[in-house]
Amino acid sequence: MLGRIRIDVPLALAPMAGITDLPFRHICKRFGAGLMITEMIASRAVDQGRERTERMAEIGGDEHPIGIQIAGSDSDYMREAAHWAASRGADFIDINMGCPVKKICKQVAGSALLKDEAAVARVLEAVVNAVTLPVTLKIRTGWDESSKNAVRIATIAEESGIQMLTVHGRTRAQMFNGHANWEDIGLAKQAVSIPVLGNGDVVDAASAREMLRISGCDGVMVGRAVQGNPWVLAEVRAALMEESIPVKPDSVARWRIIEEHMLALAEHHGERTASKLARKHVIWYSKSMEGSAEFRHHFQSLTCWKAQLEAAEVFFCENNENKAWLRAA
Ligand SMILES: Cc1cc2nc3c(=O)[nH]c(=O)nc-3n(C[C@H](O)[C@H](O)[C@H](O)COP(=O)(O)O)c2cc1C
Repeated sequence: MLGRIRIDVPLALAPMAGITDLPFRHICKRFGAGLMITEMIASRAVDQGRERTERMAEIGGDEHPIGIQIAGSDSDYMREAAHWAASRGADFIDINMGCPVKKICKQVAGSALLKDEAAVARVLEAVVNAVTLPVTLKIRTGWDESSKNAVRIATIAEESGIQMLTVHGRTRAQMFNGHANWEDIGLAKQAVSIPVLGNGDVVDAASAREMLRISGCDGVMVGRAVQGNPWVLAEVRAALMEESIPVKPDSVARWRIIEEHMLALAEHHGERTASKLARKHVIWYSKSMEGSAEFRHHFQSLTCWKAQLEAAEVFFCENNENKAWLRAA
């Protein structure tokens, strides 16, 4: 439970800027994500009425429970962003204190906030007091190896009224390198009585089980492993529910998902932006398939969404006679 929100499966889809938009979350939900969080939205952006910001906060009817993630270090902006997120239909507000990106850290937001524990408390209390919705927090284990403070931040979070914590088991200095430290996640988990989700390097059923065993966490958050592979969520979900692991979709079912994804990208973002986003997703979907290097090369040269859709159909639909360009490549 998260406040009054029932979470059926303790499996969260990690927020990933530029990836986990509404079209992709829709697909991930179908494969069993029990909890969703939008991409990070900068608190200073919310009152500027930008179409892009509104689009990032758009929530589909099937997505609940879902949180809108906000980031920032100024309590006033964060308060306002929390109100704004609540008015956009979020079930909870998630605060980002894990983002390692320089531009964000320079504003002492994202993971840079972890260096200033008093500021952490100020921001958390401001948001918790601003809304009646549950507020959750996502952190890294600290700024760097010599200043890991996930345990103290977890305690501050609980004292500030945060109702669930996600810990990515890397420091900011690690960016996405090395391994997530699941023992460190466990230390934060032991320090508090609110639910804690463990995050970092969960890629399948076995790693989900192992992360939970080592950290003692209440649930799992999966990020990069879903790229081009959203059906991995069905596998992790089955592991968490102690059910048998489902078979992966066959090539026909995969193409249906990819096509649906591309169409939804165009509908949600317009063809221009969809074309940029499709380049990432479709290339991920093609990974480790026969001929994927040639396909990637060809696909990257396409700038028009319609041409991309046609090329993807040629590549992913088995038995399609139009595979001639692939043979010629
Ligand atoms: C491209 C990309 C974008 C990300 N954007 C966000 C974000 O907007 N908010 C956030 O809290 N974390 C963000 N993250 C971090 C992920 O949520 C997650 O913590 C991290 O990828 C580790 O989990 P994983 O090993 O399962 O991928 C992002 C990660 C990636 C790779």
